[in-house]
Amino acid sequence: MQIVILDTPQQVANYGADRFADQLKHKPDSVLGLATGSTPIALYSALTARVQRGELSFANARTFNLDEYLGLAGSHPQSYRYFMNEHLFQHLDIALANTAVPDGATDNPLAACDAYEAAIQVAGGIDLQLLGIGRNGHIGFNEPSSSLASRTRVKTLTPDTVKANQRFFADGEFQPHLSITMGIGTIMEARQILLLATGQSKSAAVRAMVEGPLAARCPASILQMHPKATLVLDRAAASQLEDVAFYQYIEQENQRLPGV
Ligand code: PGA
Repeated sequence: MQIVILDTPQQVANYGADRFADQLKHKPDSVLGLATGSTPIALYSALTARVQRGELSFANARTFNLDEYLGLAGSHPQSYRYFMNEHLFQHLDIALANTAVPDGATDNPLAACDAYEAAIQVAGGIDLQLLGIGRNGHIGFNEPSSSLASRTRVKTLTPDTVKANQRFFADGEFQPHLSITMGIGTIMEARQILLLATGQSKSAAVRAMVEGPLAARCPASILQMHPKATLVLDRAAASQLEDVAFYQYIEQENQRLPGV
């Protein structure tokens, strides 16, 4: 794992935008895995600004989002399809037909999960997968105890995740407790992974991911097994890491090496 520790959340977003820009420059028809939540919003703003300045184009890219609430149609303001359209897709030069989010309104979730897996394969697999991390170590909606080999499927959200996301729903509004999520095995097949984490509330999960054992209890710990995973953290998210000086030393040394 490459561990990059930066001072501020904005620097984390800019670093992420640089990685997306490099990927699209190198392969304009990249298949990109995208994420929702508070963390990627600043990254999506940075990407939007670059596209609008004409520095970056998503015209030939395809995207697959990690997850969606089961029971919400894409027109629902709390659905992840709606979030993606609002925060990213409508500002980019990408056709919505080339953006995929699991269908939360499907009447056949099992078939929808299999079709989602198949569509990723047909697209050639994911080149760069963006991830956040939940306070409980989840990636996508792969909650603790998820099989580390899981594929896209229906998952029950933990009470902690439901509570963490409650802020987006109005009082009394229906809030789904089920989701469709890419599996951990699906995520691990991405050629490169870019996980962003900011804020003190993520520091325990970040420590478990980086320095804890590989365990289904912390789904993000599987990234220890990925050959090309970059974790981009702000100081608050990195604050419980024990070996932070070593990670910074590695980064300094890497910067001296051409092509790393
Ligand atoms: P957040 O969510 O960015 O809103 O903290 C991340 C996640 O739960 O994966």
